[in-house]
Amino acid sequence: MMKLIFLGPPGAGKGTQASIASKKLGIPTISTGDMLRAAVKEGTEIGKQAKSFMDAGKLVPDSVIIGIVAERVEKADCAQGYILDGVPRTLAQARALEDAGIRFDHVVSIETTDQVVTQRLEGRRVCPDCGATFHTTSNPSKVEGVCDACGQALIQRHDDQAETIANRLKIYHKETEPLKEFYQQRGLLRQVEDTGSIESVNGRIMAVLGK
Ligand code: AP5
Repeated sequence: MMKLIFLGPPGAGKGTQASIASKKLGIPTISTGDMLRAAVKEGTEIGKQAKSFMDAGKLVPDSVIIGIVAERVEKADCAQGYILDGVPRTLAQARALEDAGIRFDHVVSIETTDQVVTQRLEGRRVCPDCGATFHTTSNPSKVEGVCDACGQALIQRHDDQAETIANRLKIYHKETEPLKEFYQQRGLLRQVEDTGSIESVNGRIMAVLGK
């Protein structure tokens, strides 16, 4: 059983690293960003509520997030643990998970700079069908603009525009960064430097997990 949180600014590589770790550890990744994007695409009530916040690079209200996470971790595939990617993102979300009796083994914080993540987000390309993530220079698809996994045309996320990226970073520093202190006080914080290739960052993450 391993319950993990991957923490870090937008573009730090949380999704990329969670996907690799998920396969190695045999536990699912729960990404609130992916869940919300799916809800927007399907036009559900949650999607309608979330869309304007996401397009502006703002956080979706805590009440929406807490509900979808609490429901998701009860599913059968979470019995052996899970990786939370991009949640919690506010102290209120972290406290709500704690109040619900959910405890974690490690909180992995990917440490990077605003300059690095801005370059990453501007070059990010994603598959609208299967969610695979690429980067125009650091992690290109085999055929430019086409998903390696399912052959769909890759797109740029709505919120990966320069102005929205700046807003997301501002909100990260104000709302999410204080979670490091919160989990440090609980002895759970594992800080991992985000220098080098995706594989080398993954090696450091597996090492702090004792794997
Ligand atoms: P979400 O989808 O969670 O976005 P985010 O946190 O902004 O994170 P990203 O997905 O942008 O980045 P990432 O760290 O996963 O990086 P990635 O692996 O893709 O949330 C989107 C929105 O939903 C939020 O703005 C908010 O509105 C809402 N939301 C979601 N959760 C919420 C919550 N809990 N509360 C409230 N609102 C919520 O990597 C980035 C790029 O870099 C890729 O192109 C990748 O190939 C490349 N890359 C990765 N690692 C490396 C490396 N080591 N070297 C070179 N390139 C690399």
